[in-house]
Amino acid sequence: MKLILLGPPGAGKGTQAAQLVERFAIPQVSTGDMLRAAVREQTPMGLKAKEFMDKGALVTDEVVIGIVRERLQQSDCGPGFILDGFPRTVPQADALKATLSELGKNLDAVVSLQVETDALVERLVGRRSCRSCGRGFHVNFDPPAKAGICDSCGAELFQRDDDQEVTIRNRMEVYHQQTAPLEDYYRQAGLLKTVDGMAPIAEVQQQVLGILQAL
Ligand code: AP5
Ligand code: MG
Ligand code: ZN
Repeated sequence: MKLILLGPPGAGKGTQAAQLVERFAIPQVSTGDMLRAAVREQTPMGLKAKEFMDKGALVTDEVVIGIVRERLQQSDCGPGFILDGFPRTVPQADALKATLSELGKNLDAVVSLQVETDALVERLVGRRSCRSCGRGFHVNFDPPAKAGICDSCGAELFQRDDDQEVTIRNRMEVYHQQTAPLEDYYRQAGLLKTVDGMAPIAEVQQQVLGILQAL
């Protein structure tokens, strides 16, 4: 299963990907997570990427295309993968197509999570993530059993640097200008499937599973 989860910031890409990983035992390939790891490790690429991420802007195509190309060649991606947050521009989508064709693979579906802007802001403002295992929560919609503590591993929860309201607005704008055109791109390729991302987390998962079963 080779899948793209498409959707604006806060649409639930990471949340849905995590559940698919458990069910199908294929990796989640999240460029956001990989870039945040590089920032934490203070690699030269991470230091450069941080400047863009803090503003809510996109990191250059060249950098993200490079890290995804390398990641998709690793053996755990052989049986399939879930792309989360990539591609985000038409050049990234073209590069993905080229990489997959080099590897002799095809995408099965592009699942687009449809969520209204006001709901996205509310989700991002209330999001908390685990410092250790990365699991995501929401203070109202998916709260941990104990405030500030991860249910899975007991580590501390934190708020992402780019989940401040001003940065969130920028990320939305960038999404509409640079990423939203990918809906048409994949519709024309016959791969686009849309899901009502406004539904509760478990219902969205059922919709995604329904799409995958029909493939
Ligand atoms: P990235 O990490 O990809 O962030 P994003 O696209 O802005 O998406 P988010 O992770 O914020 O949202 P999500 O859809 O995963 O939502 P989640 O499941 O957490 O990218 C960050 C930055 O890295 C970019 O700004 C850019 O600078 C750089 N970058 C990354 N990839 C790049 C690329 N390809 N090219 C260039 N630059 C790149 O859910 C959000 C919250 O809502 C959670 O609290 C969750 O619990 C809750 N929630 C989820 N689903 C529901 C639901 N159905 N109902 C209620 N609450 C829900
Ligand atoms: Mg995410
Ligand atoms: Zn954890």
